[in-house]
Amino acid sequence: MKLIVTKDYETMSVRAAEEIAKIINNKPDAVVGLATGSTPFEMYKELIKMNKQGTLDFSKVTTINLDEYIGLSPQHPQSYRFFMDENLFDHINIDKKNTFLPNGLAKNVDEEGKTYDNMIDSLGGTDIQLLGIGKNGHIAFNEPDEKLIAGTHMTKLTESTIKANARFFNSIEEVPKTAVTMGLGQIMKAKKILLIASGIDKAEAIKGLMSGKINTSNPSTMLQMHNDVILIADEDAVSLL
Ligand code: GLP
Repeated sequence: MKLIVTKDYETMSVRAAEEIAKIINNKPDAVVGLATGSTPFEMYKELIKMNKQGTLDFSKVTTINLDEYIGLSPQHPQSYRFFMDENLFDHINIDKKNTFLPNGLAKNVDEEGKTYDNMIDSLGGTDIQLLGIGKNGHIAFNEPDEKLIAGTHMTKLTESTIKANARFFNSIEEVPKTAVTMGLGQIMKAKKILLIASGIDKAEAIKGLMSGKINTSNPSTMLQMHNDVILIADEDAVSLL
């Protein structure tokens, strides 16, 4: 794992945007795996800036997102589809037909999961997968558990994740209790993984990730088995290393 430590959140965001841009500039029809959450927020602004300046072209790019809340429609302001449209897709020259998220309204989530994984595989896999990390080490919505599921599947959110994500909703009761998430097996198929982390809240999870041990109580530790991972983290996020 290649570790790049940046001074703060802003420099982490710029550095991460450069990594994504490098992939797209080398391969204009790249398949780019994207993530939601507050961490990639500024990085998306950087990508928008590059697109507006004419140095980054999304016209042939396909994007695949990691996860979606179950029960939220794409029009719901807290759905991940809404987040992606509002914070990236509506501001760049991407063809929305080439932007994919799991369907949180699917009647049969198992079927939806299989279809999603097959679709990614049929695109030739993801060239770069962006990831954030939860305070408890969760990746996408793969929460700490005795077992982890490889493919895209339905999952229950932990109390800690529901609490952490409540800041985006009017009240904690409104946070969905379940989500559909890409599994770590599918995530690990990406040719390259870019993990970004900022802030002291993530320091414990990053310590676990870098511990050299792999365990399902910190799902991010699985990433140690991938041979092309870049972790871009600010000084606070690595303060326990
Ligand atoms: C959510 C998302 C993850 C994200 C994580 C951290 O639960 N499903 O993909 O990485 O939270 O979010 P944040 O970047 O807001 O700290």
